[in-house]
Amino acid sequence: MNEVEFKEAIDGLALEKTAFQHSVGSTNDVVAEWARDGEKGLALAAADEQTRGRGRAGRRWLTPPGSALAFSLLLSLDVSPDTALLGRASGLGALAVSEALERLYGMASRIKWPNDVLLNGKKTAGILAEAHWSGEHLQALILGIGINVASDSVPPVETINFPATCVEAELGRNVRASELLRAVLEEVIAWRSQMQSPEFIRAWQSRLAYMEQNVRLNMGTDRVIEAQLQGLASDGSLRLRLPSGELRNFRMGEIQITPID
Ligand code: BTN
Repeated sequence: MNEVEFKEAIDGLALEKTAFQHSVGSTNDVVAEWARDGEKGLALAAADEQTRGRGRAGRRWLTPPGSALAFSLLLSLDVSPDTALLGRASGLGALAVSEALERLYGMASRIKWPNDVLLNGKKTAGILAEAHWSGEHLQALILGIGINVASDSVPPVETINFPATCVEAELGRNVRASELLRAVLEEVIAWRSQMQSPEFIRAWQSRLAYMEQNVRLNMGTDRVIEAQLQGLASDGSLRLRLPSGELRNFRMGEIQITPID
């Protein structure tokens, strides 16, 4: 995507501040700087290439030029912060991407909780939600969204621990990244004030991957157990039935799930 296409994509959207760069370290860092400067309202930074893109759990995220969408939104908080807010922000990004793919291309994606968007079981988009603190006060959320659009954005097999793909490979034709960006932004704008509503949780849950299937829970430090995925709790945490029969909710960061084939 170039700057002209970016400007067309965001035309008329309710964004307080925007920036497009051909190449940047990480768009999450761009909006973190804005948060430090006291930026209020919804702000958006996008780039055609990231040289130090970050994924969850300290992983790298590749954004080679001309092949992907990489953008970050700064969401000033008009909801009262709670411990599950970051998880719900991840869900907001994933839901927005999933809905945009369906609306534009009729594609049925699934969300691997909390935030990976899968097409045909393979990862196509990831979300990195980060909190911005001012002292003890949670001031803003940073929602970084990366979408593999063309094949160059799909990471080499030896560098990943989950199968990956891109929108064009699954759709079988080229897409305009800028129209996908606009559709995702429209969905984020529509849902962002409802992150604590039951409708939001229901919409997120309706797109969850592996519903009522057994998944493997990686709880860190070699603890792996199997459990059945039951859906979302009202705060967006993941509800699982453990082998003991007990139902337990897990928050983002506590576990990683993988399907059992
Ligand atoms: C993940 O699945 O691990 C999360 C990937 C998040 C990638 C996006 S691309 C835009 C923003 N800038 C970054 O450095 N990361 C996020």
